Amino acid sequence: MSTNYFGIPQSRVIIAADMETYDENARVLDQICDDIDVIKVNTPLVFHEGPSVIRKLTDTFQKPVFADLKVADVPHTDVKVVRMVADNGGAAVMVHGFIGPDALIDCAEAAADQVGIIMQLELTNPGGKLFTAPIADDLARLAAELGLYGTQAPGNRPDRISKIRSIIGPEPVIVCCGVGAQGGKHNAVMQAGGTYSIVGRAIYTAENPKAAAAAITAGLQNAPALGLSA
Ligand code: XMP
Repeated sequence: MSTNYFGIPQSRVIIAADMETYDENARVLDQICDDIDVIKVNTPLVFHEGPSVIRKLTDTFQKPVFADLKVADVPHTDVKVVRMVADNGGAAVMVHGFIGPDALIDCAEAAADQVGIIMQLELTNPGGKLFTAPIADDLARLAAELGLYGTQAPGNRPDRISKIRSIIGPEPVIVCCGVGAQGGKHNAVMQAGGTYSIVGRAIYTAENPKAAAAAITAGLQNAPALGLSA
């Protein structure tokens, strides 16, 4: 793993820009852009605005954009989505680990050092414990073997973040969803070895998004050092 697609972490917060229009997300990003490291987009926004929204956000807010498109198909379809993210200036793309090594290798080849591949491991919702948690450690081993940019982990289960960090080693990023609205705490995520917390509703539905972002990062100065290369 050579490229640090998200740059040097500072607040270590990824905002989930989950509202369905560019304008709604831009109104929040105008207020909190200095307080976050990465902008994450997911399928409702990309379906609504088209994939060019990735470049528009990158250019407007001068932050890396992470396309959380949960790629999970046969390889020749997966690679089209990865290329679409690359061609629209995305920094990274989320790909489900359960698609298996052949599909993941094809995705990594399609990414061609332009886009980081982040593997989705274990969903944070209660049902995520049923099917995704039992395979998450094996998927994390596969992510490490393939030298992927990083993995997802459940930010509302710090013990699982620690386990995944112990499997993948210090270098790959771990993006942790479930912080804020689902009960996960940013500082606990950092202490457990997460690289970034993903925060959506706790910031964008707040009356004062900037104050909400500051509340999320309070106490970050005690977080352990990262193993990332610049
Ligand atoms: P909230 O509003 O819950 O948004 O902070 C979470 C964001 O992260 C994305 N995402 C996940 N969310 N479990 C989640 O709860 C997961 O495993 C997961 N993976 C990604 C979600 O789509 C939203 O953008």
